[in-house]
Amino acid sequence: MHSFLVDGKTQDIVLRFFINDISFRLCVFQKSIGLRTGIGIAIMDFDYWHSHWVKNEIRFHQGTPNQSLVACFKRLNLDPSARVFVPLCGKTRDIAWILDKGCSVVAVEYERIAIDQLFDELAVKPVVTDVGAFKHYSAEGLDVYCGDFFDLTSELLGSIDATYDRAAIVALPLEARSRYATHLKRLTKCAPQLVQTAAVYPANPQKPPFEVSLTELRSHYGNDYGLTCVDQRETPVLKEGYVDYRIYCWLLVPKAR
Ligand SMILES: C[S@@+](CC[C@H](N)C(=O)[O-])C[C@H]1O[C@@H](n2cnc3c(N)ncnc32)[C@H](O)[C@@H]1O
Repeated sequence: MHSFLVDGKTQDIVLRFFINDISFRLCVFQKSIGLRTGIGIAIMDFDYWHSHWVKNEIRFHQGTPNQSLVACFKRLNLDPSARVFVPLCGKTRDIAWILDKGCSVVAVEYERIAIDQLFDELAVKPVVTDVGAFKHYSAEGLDVYCGDFFDLTSELLGSIDATYDRAAIVALPLEARSRYATHLKRLTKCAPQLVQTAAVYPANPQKPPFEVSLTELRSHYGNDYGLTCVDQRETPVLKEGYVDYRIYCWLLVPKAR
């Protein structure tokens, strides 16, 4: 009996994960149907993001530091001199916030418009060089690789103390998400992470942000990390046009080997 005596907030979380889980399974099912019947499924490509950057349709961009980052960054237990990886960084203000904490940042972003605006808004002039498949933008405490995340190597990335994933894994369709997680773990040698996932109702399986349920997150990271939900909140900026929009922030701590 006692297990039913949960407060409204806990009930809410359980219900949302349940719905999220069903949505994940539905998405896998849709994908398998799609593959068998040739029905189109969510395929994201660089043109999609490029057209959004060109038209400045970047509703995912937040003008101020992300609230879950501000609330939970200390949970990573980092030294002040830590090096933080920000995959699929866009022009996030979170980079400035992390730099302000004394950490250095290494980031990757495909879209050059985003990187130019990132440095403009930081009021920093980077040194730009060609490194393999990337343009490398370098400034004090900050390295940004312009190119495909999947081309990044651990040699280029260097040593990482933590990964901050905001609107990165959720920006990718299902097929790419497991490749993303596998590549990220290899690149960072399973460094601790703060990861944000989204619950969007009604979910749109064709457009980001994509639903990433706890079941799915565990399937990507559960073997290597312990997962704890450290924050959740609604995002009013993106709420318009959705029935509901909620962000969960997860702390991923590597399991002892
Ligand atoms: C939803 S936005 C999030 C940006 C940023 N994390 C933020 O919080 O504002 C996703 C970004 O990922 C970039 N992106 C998508 N696929 C990528 C890839 N394979 N490699 C590098 N960047 C990619 C897009 O250009 C876009 O700017």
